[in-house]
Amino acid sequence: MQSPSPHEIRRCYSGRVFPTERPRRLRRSSAIRSLVRETSLAPSDLVLPLFFNEVLDAPRPVSTMPGVSQLPVAAAAEQARLCRSLGLGGVILFGLPRTKDASGSSAYDPSGPVPRAVAAMKDAAPDLLVITDVCVDEYTEHGHCGILKPGPRGDLEVDNDATLEVLAKAALVHAAAGADVVAPSDMMDGRVGAIRRALDGEGHEGTAILSYAVKYASSFYGPFREAADCAPKFGDRAGYQMDPANTREALREARLDEEEGADLLMVKPALPYLDVITRVRAASPLPLGAYNVSGEYAMIKAASAAGMIDEKRAVLELLTSIRRAGADFILTYHAVDAARWLG
Ligand code: PBG
Repeated sequence: MQSPSPHEIRRCYSGRVFPTERPRRLRRSSAIRSLVRETSLAPSDLVLPLFFNEVLDAPRPVSTMPGVSQLPVAAAAEQARLCRSLGLGGVILFGLPRTKDASGSSAYDPSGPVPRAVAAMKDAAPDLLVITDVCVDEYTEHGHCGILKPGPRGDLEVDNDATLEVLAKAALVHAAAGADVVAPSDMMDGRVGAIRRALDGEGHEGTAILSYAVKYASSFYGPFREAADCAPKFGDRAGYQMDPANTREALREARLDEEEGADLLMVKPALPYLDVITRVRAASPLPLGAYNVSGEYAMIKAASAAGMIDEKRAVLELLTSIRRAGADFILTYHAVDAARWLG
């Protein structure tokens, strides 16, 4: 993670080299390997994303994400008990509503799929950490992460400030239902501050905010858009999500969200952005998460189904690499399998 100090470099190259120096001594047995292992990975580092679809009576498999299904709200309690018994760090909930409209108003319906699932999960497993994704793209008929307004040339663009109100209302509804943490994923400017003020104004000063502070406009969200039925009907998200070429901008986004009152930060996606995780880790004292997104999951599933890689080894290696880069916790669809493998 950090480059070696001049002292360490001198020590390594001061003549005590082969045959005296033999790094393999520390790899001879699993006992010594585990003593000197620099990075740990435990079920409690992992957060499982779950999709609750209001209209379902039975799970509906997501074809692009083998092993992942949209769930009926009635399955929430059982999921909570499973995640708790596996010792997961938590869950993050996404909702698929019965109806969508232009302003995403079902995002703040107190009887929508997310608030109902939160309440059922907290009843079934009160000490399971429940995070909710706060965004409107699953709730708008156009699929964008905000409310639209005509831009200067008559084309539609996302209205940043009008969207803040909807996000704050959704976060309030999630907090009232019992969410421990709300996680805005929309990339509107100022949303962390708007959500913090709304929560504090209604007596939810104990609800934490996990900001998707550094979220790139990524091709790796493809499978999720089927899972959450939220592909934009026109255009793309490059007007609000970050350019994959930028890292200084990541530090700026992280700093702004920290100043606005974020409790935890996130970088998303994870694997193509390990350098960004390392830089944000070094720049901010806040706990840092990384989202091992749907496309990253789908690639591993496809390669292992084709017999090209060993799924268990690949998953544990890539989750370790995200931790090694500097993430404290990882949102991943592999969470249940990985927790079982980690025992
Ligand atoms: C937006 C949101 C997205 C993901 C999480 N929250 C999709 C997007 O920004 O297009 C993607 C997660 C994944 O790909 O696993 N609400």
